[in-house]
Amino acid sequence: MVTRLERAIEIPRQWYNIAPDLPSKLPPVIDQHTHGIADKKILHRLFVNEVARAEYSGERFITIPEELREVYSIWRPTPLVRAKRLERYLNTPARIYYKNETVSPPGSHKANAAVAQAYYAKQEGTDRLVTSTTAGQWGTALAFGCTIFGVKCTVYMSKSSYESKPYRKDLAEAWGAEIISSPSTRTKVGRDILKADPNSSGSMAVAKSEALEDTESDPTAKDAVGSIMNFVLATQTVIGQEAQAQMEPYEDYPDMVIGCVGGGSNFSGIFWPYYYEMVSKTAPKQVEFLGVESSAVPKLTKGQYIYDHSDVMRMSPLFKMYTAGHTFNPPEIHTGGLRVHGTAPSLSLLVNAGLVKAVAYNQPEVFEAGALFARTEGILPAPESAHAIKATIDEARRCKAQNKEKVILFSLCGHGILDIEGYREYFAGNMKDNDADPVELKRALDEVKGLYPWLQGND
Ligand SMILES: Cc1ncc(COP(=O)(O)O)c(C=O)c1O
Repeated sequence: MVTRLERAIEIPRQWYNIAPDLPSKLPPVIDQHTHGIADKKILHRLFVNEVARAEYSGERFITIPEELREVYSIWRPTPLVRAKRLERYLNTPARIYYKNETVSPPGSHKANAAVAQAYYAKQEGTDRLVTSTTAGQWGTALAFGCTIFGVKCTVYMSKSSYESKPYRKDLAEAWGAEIISSPSTRTKVGRDILKADPNSSGSMAVAKSEALEDTESDPTAKDAVGSIMNFVLATQTVIGQEAQAQMEPYEDYPDMVIGCVGGGSNFSGIFWPYYYEMVSKTAPKQVEFLGVESSAVPKLTKGQYIYDHSDVMRMSPLFKMYTAGHTFNPPEIHTGGLRVHGTAPSLSLLVNAGLVKAVAYNQPEVFEAGALFARTEGILPAPESAHAIKATIDEARRCKAQNKEKVILFSLCGHGILDIEGYREYFAGNMKDNDADPVELKRALDEVKGLYPWLQGND
């Protein structure tokens, strides 16, 4: 018989896909050229077949190939830790657990999706994966995945991160990837942007356009996606599934699951399996789900649920999602991973249906929470993860004020050892508030709605 402890250390055998359990069908993907419902072929041309397939699939469980489970065993299962020192510091009756994804070779949850895409790229004979990255976490993770499976890797990294995070670039190069500062002269998109503004610091949406142009011009290449798409989110469900098994020996079950939201992959990865237990009526209690975003890019809390592109040049298909607008120009922040204008369609649908809540935090309070976590639990969190920590701390403090027990689980999706410059600025007392400019946000949203008024509902 398998004991609970043995079950707690098994790597999951399947990924969970939430699509069949959503409260309504996902709105269709719209072709960027014809503006009709996108032909499946478009996604298959751009992305690895398995990624494209999962965008339309109603399959609830996807078997994880054994070869991939073997690769996962390099760092999985990741630890589930009770944050007792943080609890003691806060003097809270809440019980706080975190799932520590920082132990993957590139240092974040992004490795879960990267090795999966590199594996399927190899299987289908794709020679090269091309991608875009801002914080650099996804770029390094893909470089790692590609080196494991012997696939070439090209990463367009927005110039601001390329210059401020040289170690991420070095790490990706150590794994054999080619890293290009974006905007670059490599693509027409990049050349046009540089012509208009030779000092452009780039953005995720610009880097994405360059990656898509590069992919479209090379039949041996495909675009690799670090978030937003269903397959990526599904591959992250190893996080939540492991957490469920690992919490059993503690005889606890979360009342609340918290994760930061860029495109939505680490948050979905941790909460989807709990959502499944709720819809399949096997959960012992109702669980609240809380997504945490940066107030610099407040798409869930101040954006709109409309059709938008995932890149600035409108080369990607249109997805219905919470967005700040693909031309939205966010303030510079040290949290590149949350500096993304759009959100996964599945997460957007759940937020719109009121089944998932969202909150936004400003940069200084997030770094304060990150530093407190480092000084209590010992791990320096990625600034992205520090958003989830801030929300956890606030909830634990509310529990204290109300003298209420609550089990909180959050996703510690990455470490901040290569993001140290943000902490340096914070400790030097130089970090400023960085809320999104409401005028700029309105401009960007009005622009999207003006482009495709017939696609947009009343949300
Ligand atoms: C450490 C870390 N956490 C979170 C994110 C946000 O992405 P997602 O919402 O897809 O998890 C990123 C993105 O780069 C990241 O690097």
